[in-house]
Amino acid sequence: MSTANHVAAETAAGTATGTTPVTARGDAPAAGRAPAASAPAAEGAPAPGISNANLVARDLAHVWHPCTQMKDHERLPPLPVRRAYGCWLEDYDGRRYLDAISSWWVNLFGHCHPLIGAAVAAQLQQCEHVLLAGVAHEPAVALAEELVCIAPAGLTRCFFADNGSAAVEVALKMSFHYWQNRALTRKRRFVTLANSYHGETLGALAVGNVELYKRVYAPLLMDVLTAPSPDCYERERGESWADYSRRRFEDMRALLERHAEEIAAVIVEPLVQCAGNMRMYDPVYLSLLRAACDEYQVHLIADEIAVGFGRTGTLFACEQAGITPDLLCLSKGLTGGYLPLSAVLAGERIYEAFYAEYSAQRAFLHSHSYTGNPLACAAARATLQIFATTPVIEDNRRLAAHLAARLAPLTEHPHVADVRQTGMIAAVELVRERATRTPWPAEERRGWRIHREARARGVLLRPLGEVVYFMPPYVITEEQIDLMVNVAAQAIEAACG
Ligand SMILES: Cc1ncc(COP(=O)(O)O)c(C=O)c1O
Repeated sequence: MSTANHVAAETAAGTATGTTPVTARGDAPAAGRAPAASAPAAEGAPAPGISNANLVARDLAHVWHPCTQMKDHERLPPLPVRRAYGCWLEDYDGRRYLDAISSWWVNLFGHCHPLIGAAVAAQLQQCEHVLLAGVAHEPAVALAEELVCIAPAGLTRCFFADNGSAAVEVALKMSFHYWQNRALTRKRRFVTLANSYHGETLGALAVGNVELYKRVYAPLLMDVLTAPSPDCYERERGESWADYSRRRFEDMRALLERHAEEIAAVIVEPLVQCAGNMRMYDPVYLSLLRAACDEYQVHLIADEIAVGFGRTGTLFACEQAGITPDLLCLSKGLTGGYLPLSAVLAGERIYEAFYAEYSAQRAFLHSHSYTGNPLACAAARATLQIFATTPVIEDNRRLAAHLAARLAPLTEHPHVADVRQTGMIAAVELVRERATRTPWPAEERRGWRIHREARARGVLLRPLGEVVYFMPPYVITEEQIDLMVNVAAQAIEAACG
């Protein structure tokens, strides 16, 4: 079957099963919000010569997609996206797909948000990019000021990079280097949690723990200490999240006690291990960990790249435990999903360990060409402006409650082992046999089938294994949540029934 035929089959399936053509001019903005993007007024004709079929054919001739077995595209071509607005992605036939995963968890306020777009456009007239070494520019200065204001207390220094993995590399190197500068040269190992994910560059991969991404590269990776995950899917029947998280912390404490002298830092994803199948745990684990890190003189690195900026129900997940990490990694939602940017926030104690005469050779010399790019900083400032001027966290509480209510019936489904949620992240864990929680054989690829079925019905889902999750933009409406969950339920039925 040719690529063009694949697209035709896909498109026909979309029509037959109810993929939503664009009829309305836009979606009503959520109450109390800055206006979300609506369908652009001038729909216009697609650029001449571009159609779903030929874009996909050109794509498959040259683009090597991330996180993809390219041969899968023989059966399901990449989704051609002509434009995006609000929660919608639209193809060249005017069919639209609900972006239920915020384009890999980056988008907060919808695609083509007018305020963020305007801020980037205005910055484009001033300065598109300038290096940040030895140069000060207002977008980076103002963003650093704003981030230290909203971050957990005590984080006063902001080091920019340009993606999440780079932020993790920065945090690991900064921690290690801090101890070197303090002449505690034995402190060079990192502690990570089982089932964690921190990115895919070699350092980030080493402190991550998801087999799928790590296995092949294991010979290249530094050795780390791994503590069991507090992931509450594994708790005993009747045991509370808090009790289980507390119980799991004992393993972490033992590890810290045994190896404190050689440990630089513990790195965790606060509250939700996102790429690790959206497994969740109780904030008490973070409180205990903070206290133990202080006791054993070990840095705590909070990787809030996925969970920061309101995803878990508070602006930062660490707030729910009332803690300040030593290093805080931010990215993804930082720019509202507009442009690549990341930041690592640190306190004065860490900063001062690097501050010395040049001859002391203590400076932190990490750099990336696009560090602190002004356009990305402008997008980030506009994003923070939306948080400052609209009740995002409160509105999300209502949306999260609606999502929980809509997902509730799925708890009874014969192939559902668990439905869990933390704020605006929800997940449905599917198994072959509910009573024993026996997973589906991986080679059956039920999750991938669900992705295909949902896409044919106009919703973009990307299950992690057999875990269907929802992480929509915050401008999603209750009606769109209903659509998202209904389609997910239909897709589960079609793929697992
Ligand atoms: C918790 C966490 N850390 C780090 C990363 C890596 O970010 P990036 O994909 O921007 O490199 C991710 C990406 O999903 C993540 O979820």
